[in-house]
Amino acid sequence: MERTFIAIKPDGVQRGLISEIIGRFEKKGFTLVGMKFMMVSRQLAEQHYAVHKERPFFAGLVDFIISAPVVAMVWEGDGVVASARKIIGATNPLTSEPGTIRGDLGVSIGRNLIHGSDAVETAQQEVALWFKPEELSDWKPTVNPWLYE
Ligand code: RTP
Ligand code: MG
Repeated sequence: MERTFIAIKPDGVQRGLISEIIGRFEKKGFTLVGMKFMMVSRQLAEQHYAVHKERPFFAGLVDFIISAPVVAMVWEGDGVVASARKIIGATNPLTSEPGTIRGDLGVSIGRNLIHGSDAVETAQQEVALWFKPEELSDWKPTVNPWLYE
């Protein structure tokens, strides 16, 4: 089944929004298969955001990601990559729709609380970058027949 990489950024941790954010994915019906609370190394942050390395905000973004702990997670479910992006909302919280995580909880693009993989292929790369295979749990929630036909 499809998997995506989700990270609660340092602002979400500092603001006490870990349970609020995780709860949205749980309540939706997605399955948590990996999670760790960690300080991110500069090397990992730079690798994770390598696609943005020429952008003017890159250095500040890396400094921010390593400034406090993050909650790194892998979530599983049919269509979870695209659905998680919708739950997260647009990059700039000022224009994210109300009802999304960023739209409900944030006010600025450099403090937008959460990362979510932007495509299935990116998700596979990011899961492999952040997690060893043995850090992921293959399990099937007993509630699944009430979530899937
Ligand atoms: P993310 O990768 O963190 O899930 O966010 P995203 O896909 O919605 O946005 P992306 O374009 O990948 O940008 C990555 C992160 O860089 C910061 N950013 N700052 N100051 C700026 O103009 C600017 N643009 C992007 C944001 O924290 C964004 O989440
Ligand atoms: Mg992105």
